[in-house]
Parts: sequence; C-alpha cells; structure tokens
Amino acid sequence: MAQQRKYRVGLIGAGAIAQGCHGPGYAKSDRVELVAFADPVKARHDEMTERFEGIRGYKDYASMLQEEQLDIVSVCTPNAAHAAATIAALEAGCHVLCEKPMAVTLDETDAMIAAARKARKKLMIGFTHRMMTGPEKCREMLRAGGIGKPFMMRVRFAHGGPYPGWAKDPDTFYRPEISAGGAMLDMGIHAIDLCNWIMGPVVSVTATCKTLLKRIKVDDNAVLLLEFKNGALGYIEVGWTSKPGFTGLELYGSEGSLICDYLKGLTLFGGKASAGQDSVAEWQTLDPTPTQGGWDTEIEHWLDVVSGDARLHMDGKAGRAALEVALAAYESSRTGRRITLGA
Ligand SMILES: NC(=O)c1ccc[n+]([C@@H]2O[C@H](COP(=O)([O-])OP(=O)(O)OC[C@H]3O[C@@H](n4cnc5c(N)ncnc54)[C@H](O)[C@@H]3O)[C@@H](O)[C@H]2O)c1
Repeated sequence: MAQQRKYRVGLIGAGAIAQGCHGPGYAKSDRVELVAFADPVKARHDEMTERFEGIRGYKDYASMLQEEQLDIVSVCTPNAAHAAATIAALEAGCHVLCEKPMAVTLDETDAMIAAARKARKKLMIGFTHRMMTGPEKCREMLRAGGIGKPFMMRVRFAHGGPYPGWAKDPDTFYRPEISAGGAMLDMGIHAIDLCNWIMGPVVSVTATCKTLLKRIKVDDNAVLLLEFKNGALGYIEVGWTSKPGFTGLELYGSEGSLICDYLKGLTLFGGKASAGQDSVAEWQTLDPTPTQGGWDTEIEHWLDVVSGDARLHMDGKAGRAALEVALAAYESSRTGRRITLGA
C-alpha cells in the first residue's frame, strides 16, 4: 500500500531489546523516522543518543506521547510495565508493538485488547519465534499433512540466562515484582506461543518450575506437559542455566518426524522406527541452513502489518492465550495439579 509519509516512531524502554531489535529495525527502514524514546535511566539516554542520530530522549513516556505525535510505539519495558505503557500509547493514537509476555495478568491483557479496539489501532506482540524460518516451515508442513496425523510436539529453548550478558538491568528478569516469573515466563512464553500457533490451542497444562542453579528468586528451569485440543500431547523444556545444547522444536506424526534444530536446519524423517534390527530410517534435509529471521525480520513485518500489507496474527488474542497457559503452568507447579484452561 502506498505510504503518504514516514511513520513517526517512539520506543518505551530503551534497554537491551530496544537497542538490539526495535531500534535497529526501525533505523534501517525507509518507511519510518525513529524520533524518540522514553526511559528513566540516564545511561540508556547516553547509549541511545550515541547510537541513533537525532533521537530525542524522555524520562517518562507520558511526556513523550504528549510531545511527539507518534504513529507507532514499541513497548520494551520490563513485563510488569507492558500493560500501562501499551494502553497509554494506544490512547495517544499509536499502533503498538508490545514485547512478550504481553502482560502479567489476564485482566491486563483484556484491558489492552479493549484499548486497541477502542482506539482502532493495531496491537502486535513480539513473538519473535514466529518470524523465524524453522518454526514457520514446520507449521506449513504440518498443515499440508507432511507428517500425517500429528500426535506429539516438543520445544526446547534454553541458554545461560539474561543476566549478566544481556539485560541492562538484572531486575528486569530476576525481580519477581517486575518480571512476574523466571525462565518459564521469559522463554516459555515463546515456546507456548509456538505450540498454540503450530499445533493448535493448548487445553491443559501440568508443570514443574524450579530454581536449580542460579541464586535468584524466580525459576531458572521448567518443564511443561501439554494437551492440545486436537488430542495431541506436547512438552516444553526451558531454562536459564544451559550450556549450548538442542534448541528448537520437534513434531511427530503418524507418517513422519520433523526436527527443527535451530543451529542445524530442518530435517524430515520417515521410514520405520521400530526398536528391532530391521529399523530403517530415511531422512530428507528440507533446509540445511540454521534457522534465520526473528529480530532481523520482525520490525519489517510489523511495518507491513501497520500499513495493511500483512495480516496481524501475533495479536492480543495470541498474547492472552500464551499468558493463560504460562499462568496455569505456575499454578500447576505451585499446587501439583493439572490445570485445565478456561475451566
Ligand atoms: N522478543 C524477544 O526475543 C525478547 C528478548 C529479550 C527481551 N524481551 C522482552 O523485552 C522486555 C525488556 O527486556 P530487556 O532485555 O530489554 O531488559 P533491559 O533491562 O535491558 O531493559 C529494560 C529497560 O526498560 C526501562 N524501563 C523500566 N521501566 C520503565 C518505564 N516505566 N518506562 C520506560 N522505560 C522503563 C529500564 O530502565 C531499562 O532500560 C521484557 O519484557 C522482555 O521479556 C523480548
């Protein structure tokens, strides 16, 4: 769609994800002008003004929204601030790309969805993994019947943790009142969203979330058992204490197995899978290249969504659905019970 003028863009929160994904994504686009950011911390102002020429910094987002007449805002604050910042930006007439998890309570997600509807603006959630080549191909293949009737999905996302090394502020991820959870919410929300997106809605969850190695007040490892509406089962492992290992997803169906190892590419296995000596495995490398995309492609996709050239699928409803499973996982871990969603 032909664009009349450049979109004016602002960032709320100018930490690691703002500087690593949103800022560079907008800066390289000729469809936008990255005009301002809001962050209470002085060091972020120094980093941002050095990095993005001409950008104006504000200590609070209310002043930025009032002064700058923005068209688009990215919300890149810690989790507990997502809802208030998103609603304020929507009420100021902006389209909003909000980082994951969408919020920390379902009431907040409902208020955000209502605010977007009222403002007639778009609200997208930063489910980066949907923008990656591997998961996207897995979804296509599953839908095209490439592995027959799917019965199992596994996702493993684990690394060494967000601090030190990533986040500007350890509190963003490690202080429970701000993060509202640990590795399960941070990494798990991506995994849960992929499960919802690829296999269909999750209908029940059983989980164990533990702090195994880090000296922090939130979980650093978690395992989730899932049941899907289509009858399939799934399991998710996430963690913040892992040395390099498998990162990716696996889908198993009546006619084949699809292995998406983010570092190695995408493989389809067929043949027989018996335990006996006659077992024959055939495989086909569908894509030998490591999974690509994500942060590199998310902002361009978002701009396509804003301009009406792409469908909004990482929407508030998807953000709410993923959070519902994550909150149920914490409830399950706390109570030792299986939680049925929507019950
Ligand atoms: N999509 C992804 O792959 C991905 C990756 C990393 C982080 N995230 C998400 O991005 C968000 C931020 O994480 P981060 O890694 O950038 O953390 P960070 O600690 O590096 O940055 C957070 C920034 O927000 C600022 N801030 C806090 N309260 C604010 C407020 N009320 N208004 C404006 N600014 C405020 C802080 O000063 C800090 O600079 C989190 O919700 C996290 O889950 C997403």
